[in-house]
Amino acid sequence: MGLNIVQKIIKTHLVEGDMTPGKPIAIRIDQTLTQDATGTMAYLHFEAMGLPKVQTELSVSYVDHNTLQAGGPENANDHLFLQTAAAKFGVYFSKAGNGICHQVHLERFAVPGKTLLGSDSHTPTAGGIGMLAIGAGGMDVALAMAGEPFYLTMPKVVRVNLYGKLRPFVSAKDIILELLRRLTVKGGLGRIFEYGGEGVKYLTVPERATITNMGAELGATTSIFPSDEQTYLFMKAQGREAQWRPLQADPDATYDEVIDIDLSELEPLIACPHMPDNVKKVKEVEGLRVHQVAIGSCTNSSYRDLKTVGEMFKRTGKMVHPMVSAAISPGSKQVLRMMDKEGYYDVFLRAGFRILENACGPCIGMGFAPPSGGVSVRTFNRNFYGRSGTKDAQVYLASPETAAATAMKGVITDPRDLGLDEIKVFLPEKFEIDDSMIYAPAADPDEIEIYKGPTINYVGYKEPLGDKLEGEVLLKVGDNITTDHIIPGGAKILPLRSNIPAISEYVYSVVDETFAQRAKEKGGGFIVGGENYGQGSSREHAAIGPMYLGIKAVIAKSFARIHHANLINFGILPLVFVNKEDYDKIDQGDWLEVDLSNFAPGEDNIITVINRTKGISIPTKHGLNKRQVEIIKAGGVLAYVKQKFEK
Ligand code: F3S
Repeated sequence: MGLNIVQKIIKTHLVEGDMTPGKPIAIRIDQTLTQDATGTMAYLHFEAMGLPKVQTELSVSYVDHNTLQAGGPENANDHLFLQTAAAKFGVYFSKAGNGICHQVHLERFAVPGKTLLGSDSHTPTAGGIGMLAIGAGGMDVALAMAGEPFYLTMPKVVRVNLYGKLRPFVSAKDIILELLRRLTVKGGLGRIFEYGGEGVKYLTVPERATITNMGAELGATTSIFPSDEQTYLFMKAQGREAQWRPLQADPDATYDEVIDIDLSELEPLIACPHMPDNVKKVKEVEGLRVHQVAIGSCTNSSYRDLKTVGEMFKRTGKMVHPMVSAAISPGSKQVLRMMDKEGYYDVFLRAGFRILENACGPCIGMGFAPPSGGVSVRTFNRNFYGRSGTKDAQVYLASPETAAATAMKGVITDPRDLGLDEIKVFLPEKFEIDDSMIYAPAADPDEIEIYKGPTINYVGYKEPLGDKLEGEVLLKVGDNITTDHIIPGGAKILPLRSNIPAISEYVYSVVDETFAQRAKEKGGGFIVGGENYGQGSSREHAAIGPMYLGIKAVIAKSFARIHHANLINFGILPLVFVNKEDYDKIDQGDWLEVDLSNFAPGEDNIITVINRTKGISIPTKHGLNKRQVEIIKAGGVLAYVKQKFEK
């Protein structure tokens, strides 16, 4: 039986499992990428593993998130740490100002048919070139750099058939907005979207990358396009044609699900506040007064996108509307140099755009926040409440065409209403290739000393597990505790991300201000939780902080999947009540003992928790597999891989 593209790549990278959807698999990772916000932790984890050099074919460290704003030296310290760590560990380093990780990776490093693991949720952007590119946590990326496989559940593969041709002023962004409209932000869970059909050949790689980028908003594991003539042309224009290889689904390939999109029926779409799936036709919201337009982000900041905007302003001769503040953040130095070379930089300046840094910038609320209660139209991928930096702002997501027309008119505008002839942007024969801000790893890594400013303080290990855990219940919480309860985000706490002792002071601070203090005084202990413990983001600090404070086990009615994995990674034993009513038999302050002499893999293995204070025994289960048991016994995944490497 023939294979689809996803199966072809997974098959050649499979380390464990058999590609049955829903079953666990492990794959070999060829390339990794990190960005600065998650990268410091990834390289600190990697350093703690004790390997001299990354084991991947290629790893790249980008600085694009926290480039400018910070009250103190935290960002500069992190950047210098990242640069020296990259030089020492055999990692390429893309300096702040060189561009957004996904745009630069697509231009300079992504290769069809390879696997990429990135510590950023929009890593699937590289699927536009035919790469199997997946976002993950810092620890998973560190493990991949150490040569360990990536463990995941085999997703279903959904074929998205594109047929017909896009009409003028309807573009790739409208294709992915249409999918979000149809499937919602949960529609991609446990799935990979594989694009195919006649319509694919009209989409250039950067357009495909817009679609795979925002597949992340569907909740998909990743999205991928074939590698074809378009892919070859893009790589040739990047001077990388030698790395091109064709990649297509077999004619008799099968899929778990199929979706059809007739491109010729699409029209300009817009995601309304505050969710990327709250999609309407631009026509339905036309005329709404707009205060700000932002063009850029890893979704829509390519040469094709900015040139389209430039052409629209050039042909109309219009300026940005006086009541609109408009900014462009180019995706990369390459894109900006292309704009300069072809005269569009001047077009933007004349039209009244503000040109921001080649970085994420406003996409994560780093400057250019909308006015209070204001309306901002952005070419980005997320419009969550408060993400722009202004809590009560109304953020709309649209294509560069819609954003440009809106910037001119001062109200949300369908770009077709400008009466312009179709704008066709072709790939240039050669891009302005300039890798001068990408540094190769050091030729002599022994000469490199990794810089660690005082804001970097890492603690990655805990003691290996003995045969018995004992201690006090330091906290008892209810149902649906989120990772935000465990370790809050925010401008005060985020800069402490590389300083484990400092950030640990905030563990559970929103629930009980004295928690960290108590945990330290008692030398650690237990946490008792209700249903769905640890839901929310994948924030690994929600496990690292408790580990640092000596939490030995969390006993709960049930766990959220990612936090459960993070607890195991950091050596904290997650136990589930066999009888949910037993939750009522433990109170904060009780003394518990857990006998681990029979701790072994198995769905049904019972671990007895003895409540010494109340004189009762409580049955719990762990449900861990062999690898997970070994990780917990070792004291966390770092200690586990270190033991493995030493053998
Ligand atoms: Fe950066 Fe926003 Fe993309 S933060 S990586 S531009 S989603």
